[in-house]
Amino acid sequence: MKIAIMGAMPEEIAPILKRLETYKTIEYAGNKYYEASYKGVDLVVAYSKIGKVFSTLTATTMIEHFGISVMLFSGVAGAISSELKVGDLIVASKLSQHDLDITAFGHPYGYVPEGSVYVEADRKMIEISKAVASEIGKTVKEGIIATGDQFVANEERKNWIGKTFNADALEMEGASVAVVCDALNVPFFILRAISDAADMDASFSFDEFLETSANESAEFIMKMVDKLID
Ligand code: ADE
Repeated sequence: MKIAIMGAMPEEIAPILKRLETYKTIEYAGNKYYEASYKGVDLVVAYSKIGKVFSTLTATTMIEHFGISVMLFSGVAGAISSELKVGDLIVASKLSQHDLDITAFGHPYGYVPEGSVYVEADRKMIEISKAVASEIGKTVKEGIIATGDQFVANEERKNWIGKTFNADALEMEGASVAVVCDALNVPFFILRAISDAADMDASFSFDEFLETSANESAEFIMKMVDKLID
């Protein structure tokens, strides 16, 4: 088993690299990939840069070039559900692209021919995450995550995404990583800690809580890794 841990921003993988202490840095396709051995298992860690295109490139590279067999994504998200507050964890049951729009041809939002509106995450890993959460006394909400190339800082847009996709949280990479992993048959797990409420204060909240929320998510991801290799 070779496990990938991916984030979008340096802050999202920094706590993981700190935990690993020693790793090898490989530059490939315009990015840095960090290879480490952790409790006898190979890990590949990277941040992709923000958005669907860069995250697609990184996820594909991790699978096709580095030969990973499991994908774990760690990062932050904007809350749509009023149940989710800053620092709370959400694990994606399924993911959708909220900015994919060929509705002019009669298709639903998020759909292209031969694709699907949602990509389902690996059920077994979601169940493992619930076991981990109860072991460490944390709450992890399972919900739908909507992804788009847009930092949402607008109540109206956020509510539209929530209503259209029945989504609980939004971010900028999850669905693209999901599409790649699904197409290449790699089980994936997308975890996010809330950094903001995708409203008019979102950019301030994001700046204030990026580091602490990214840390929450990364800590949980390492607990997942421990469980996977147990
Ligand atoms: N990631 C964290 N907060 C976000 C937001 N408001 N919009 C898009 N991606 C995010």
